[in-house]
Amino acid sequence: MPTITCVEDFRQLYHRSVPKMFCDYVEAGSYTEATLQANVEDFNALKIRQRIGVDVTGVGTSGTMAGQDVALPVAFAPVGMLGIQSAGGEIKVAKAAEQFGVPFILSTMSMCSIEDVAAATETSFWFQLYVVKDRDFVRDLIQRAKGAGCSKLVVTMDLPVLGQRHRDVKNKLSIRPRLKDLLNFATKPRWSAEMIRTPYKSFGNVVGHAKGVDDLASLLSWAVEMVDPALDWGVVEWIKKEWGGPMILKGVLDPEDARIAADMEMEAIVVSNHGGRQLDGAPSTISMLPHIADLVGDRMELFLDSGVRTGMDIFRARALGASGVLLGRAMVYALGAQGQAGVSTLLTLLQKELATSMALSGKTNLADIDRTDLLYDQRSGGD
Ligand code: GLV
Repeated sequence: MPTITCVEDFRQLYHRSVPKMFCDYVEAGSYTEATLQANVEDFNALKIRQRIGVDVTGVGTSGTMAGQDVALPVAFAPVGMLGIQSAGGEIKVAKAAEQFGVPFILSTMSMCSIEDVAAATETSFWFQLYVVKDRDFVRDLIQRAKGAGCSKLVVTMDLPVLGQRHRDVKNKLSIRPRLKDLLNFATKPRWSAEMIRTPYKSFGNVVGHAKGVDDLASLLSWAVEMVDPALDWGVVEWIKKEWGGPMILKGVLDPEDARIAADMEMEAIVVSNHGGRQLDGAPSTISMLPHIADLVGDRMELFLDSGVRTGMDIFRARALGASGVLLGRAMVYALGAQGQAGVSTLLTLLQKELATSMALSGKTNLADIDRTDLLYDQRSGGD
């Protein structure tokens, strides 16, 4: 077993463990992948102030996200098809999150259904909603999330059309593998053996629920056709009524949209560019966070995703106004590499990185981290 000390170690093991087409799906950004790169580069450009002479005994990483106590200001992002990265992947990540004390957000496009995850866990999880054209299906999903005791609804707003990822087009990403894919699967024996045995082989929230979807072939054409370009603020208002509980909007990158979300009394927003998978050429999330925090930071909670790879990044996001971050790719790497145990290890590693960074910058509590703890360069957008 290799010694894993950081997210990059998980990433390398992930690529050795999971078939290439599914790794490509996760790693891809849209078009030139400029935004994908900017997300990571702009984090690294933000320098953390090293401070000395402070008693940092008892440094702690616990806080709250949307009113929920968290051991680390991290939630697992709603990534589609986790169950393809590792058999029963959604349940594995939800259990690791539950044990550690951080939120898990289940994607609409998951393999394990809302009910499967609810049956396998004790604490409530959050549910991510894709608004699709079939509004009866959307209404039904909202009811199912309520019925399963999901505590927050996270509505994805930055996918009214799908950003093209060249790698997926070239791989003809589909559930029905071609010979080339089968040969690659053969080099990933553990992945293949688990996948053959798992009962979670299709999209659990959709198959048997959406009209006309009863097998994988009909599901794939459904997913493409159902993306709804008519997703506007009126639809958000409708969802809010149907749900009637705490709601979080994901995919906000512009301060003006953040202001509208605050006016609509959202509990939180996720400052996100979908991991650089949607609008290529959009700014990085960390560069936009201070502008959004200046405008609405006192009206609702801010989370951030896209580009978070280290505990230092969690520190940077906290400093610029996010109460927590969502982890997408880092979680998938750990899951694909080592299953549930990998996800638990990831949380432990990030907690250590964050706590060490806090101590070396003279902080013992998350609440004490603010903008003055960073030194800016021109790309950061701060003051
Ligand atoms: C869908 O959300 C994707 O990013 O593939």
